[in-house]
Amino acid sequence: MAAEAMPLQLVTGESKDLDEVMDVMASAFDPHFGEAWTRSQCAGILPLSGVQLVLARNEHEVCGFSLLRTVADEAELLLLAVSQDSQRQGIGGALLNHFIDHGRQANLARLHLEVRDGNPAVAMYQAFGFEEEGRRRKYYTGRDGSQHDALTMALKI
Ligand SMILES: CC(C)(COP(=O)(O)OP(=O)(O)OC[C@H]1O[C@@H](n2cnc3c(N)ncnc32)[C@H](O)[C@@H]1OP(=O)(O)O)[C@@H](O)C(=O)NCCC(=O)NCCS
Repeated sequence: MAAEAMPLQLVTGESKDLDEVMDVMASAFDPHFGEAWTRSQCAGILPLSGVQLVLARNEHEVCGFSLLRTVADEAELLLLAVSQDSQRQGIGGALLNHFIDHGRQANLARLHLEVRDGNPAVAMYQAFGFEEEGRRRKYYTGRDGSQHDALTMALKI
């Protein structure tokens, strides 16, 4: 009899999980766009008050993560990534739902995020109710020096 696959688990991560987080980061983000964070950026923000790392674990490994920061009655989605070979299986949506649930449970007024204009994730954020609020010109600089605008998006809850 075939063993049943372990369901996806969303668990809180810590600094000791950074190796796996950086593996997902490298797999998910295209360096052309300059959206990925460095290990030292991640390590620097993790101990700060209101910051939460959420890991998506499948049977074998960490296959996705989100990084959130809550300040007063707002929270920001700093990063959301799923390893390339685990994409389009609902994992990004599960992490985004977790972020929205956090906002509801903590009674926050507003959730927000920044995303590169043209990133397919924009459609996902819109599908979850986020609305475009503004644009930051040339916000991302890719490894090759190319520059890309960011959209700011928000969800009122
Ligand atoms: C964005 C990202 C996290 C989505 O993760 P995912 O696990 O593939 O997302 P899901 O499977 O939950 O997709 C949910 C829905 O979002 C939309 N979507 C997700 N990726 C998409 C893509 N590449 N193109 C078009 N629509 C997409 C679809 O509507 C999808 O539903 P469907 O598969 O039923 O059509 C993932 O593509 C990723 O890691 N990208 C690189 C990192 C990044 O750009 N992160 C966002 C900015 S921080």
